[in-house]
Amino acid sequence: MPVAADVVLGAGVTIHHPVLVNLYGCTVGEGSTIGPFVEVQRGAVIGARCKIGSHSFVCTGVTLEDEVFVGHGVMFVNDRHPRAASGGRLQREGDWVLEPTRVGRGASIGSGAVVMCGVTIGAGAMVGAGAVVTADVPAGATVAGVPARLLARATAGAVAPPPADATAPGDTEPKSAPP
Ligand SMILES: CC(C)(COP(=O)(O)OP(=O)(O)OC[C@H]1O[C@@H](n2cnc3c(N)ncnc32)[C@H](O)[C@@H]1OP(=O)(O)O)[C@@H](O)C(=O)NCCC(=O)NCCS
Repeated sequence: MPVAADVVLGAGVTIHHPVLVNLYGCTVGEGSTIGPFVEVQRGAVIGARCKIGSHSFVCTGVTLEDEVFVGHGVMFVNDRHPRAASGGRLQREGDWVLEPTRVGRGASIGSGAVVMCGVTIGAGAMVGAGAVVTADVPAGATVAGVPARLLARATAGAVAPPPADATAPGDTEPKSAPP
């Protein structure tokens, strides 16, 4: 089932191709949009008015606050030292340590970025395309590269984190009813 029955969808969530996603046990806030070939795992939380680009993976332990932009092919991570098996059998829950990740309100994550587990990306921050985020990103900062580092020039012109009561910008993308 592409969108499982236990997914909590807010009002006006747009899933452009509901048969081409894999959402289960997660929460998606009102007005958010989800592109094709996106997986959102159990327990992940996507806030209101977020945009999740195609081919992105939002795993268990990830929280996206409101108005977060996730580009295409963005990979979140929740297991720092992954192993397929231990003790001669496949690993299960409890055999590994989940490290949660939080992305602050209004932050943007460029296409192809990898966000390592256990980090906090501050409100309004900008993560460059292809970056590997290995440490916390300050609110409003711009980071890029592998590992992601502050971009001095871009950071100087960075936008301030959006206020908590900011109104939603108009969304011109086509709407479809939640499944
Ligand atoms: C990181 C980013 C926001 C910086 O934009 P900017 O502030 O306009 O910065 P500039 O283009 O002036 O580049 C500044 C410097 O950072 C470098 N840089 C820019 N983006 C980079 C990236 N993704 N990775 C590594 N270095 C990058 C530039 O080469 C430049 O280096 P230099 O000063 O040595 O010449 C932007 O390049 C980016 O990656 N945006 C994400 C786009 C995206 O994924 N969109 C998704 C929807 S299509």
